[in-house]
Amino acid sequence: MTEPLTIALNRGRILDEFLPLLAASGIEPDEPMEGSRRLVFDSKCGRARLVIMRGADVPTYVTYGAADIGITGKDTLLEYGGAGFYERMDLGIARCQIMSAAPVGAAFPEGRLRIATKFVNIAKRYYAEQGRQVDIIRLSGAMEIAPLMGLADLIVDIVDTGNTLRANGLEALDTIAQISSRVIVNRASLKMRFAEVETLLDSLRAVVKTRAGMDSRADMDSRSGMNSGAGTDG
Ligand code: PRP
Repeated sequence: MTEPLTIALNRGRILDEFLPLLAASGIEPDEPMEGSRRLVFDSKCGRARLVIMRGADVPTYVTYGAADIGITGKDTLLEYGGAGFYERMDLGIARCQIMSAAPVGAAFPEGRLRIATKFVNIAKRYYAEQGRQVDIIRLSGAMEIAPLMGLADLIVDIVDTGNTLRANGLEALDTIAQISSRVIVNRASLKMRFAEVETLLDSLRAVVKTRAGMDSRADMDSRSGMNSGAGTDG
């Protein structure tokens, strides 16, 4: 029997949203991931081995061929880049934005702006394109605190619902990138295991397409009042 394809999975929200797509494509872990401390799972079908890791490590595992396929966010790919893999598919899950944000109504200094972020490369590129002189201050999380503590003028961070910004008295300014989860494939794996990789990608594409159709129908139904409970009071 051929070796299973090794799939590196970004733990957290991306993993949670990806597992149902993977299951609908015929690949399920050999035991439930939820509540487990295991990081490596075989699949019931034997076609894949699933490895859970931090998002920033996914491109590294795929670049070096320790994983054939990786699932991670576009934010990670923009930040850590890499030449050892192909970005093959937009899964359309875990959508969010990378935005700049500052305390509501803040006035900015004329000179260099201090930007707190964990997306150092993305922020550097963005402000260079804007022709703005900035000092980037690297943080590893909870960026929202930085302007409140006087550490930075602005932050560059992930915004999803905007609740974290609002709860900390910040407002979104510029949208720097639209983010969703992507499938990346090691260059050599795509050549050497083309049929297996493409079979999996085709299944995922079909699942994503079906779900997108279901979502847009649900969206139209809710806008036209169907399934919303409206008008059922009799
Ligand atoms: C992310 C991000 C924001 C928050 C945005 O943090 O850094 O803090 O989510 O989501 P919202 O717009 O829906 O409030 P995460 O919880 O991933 O932790 P982190 O601070 O360690 O990045």
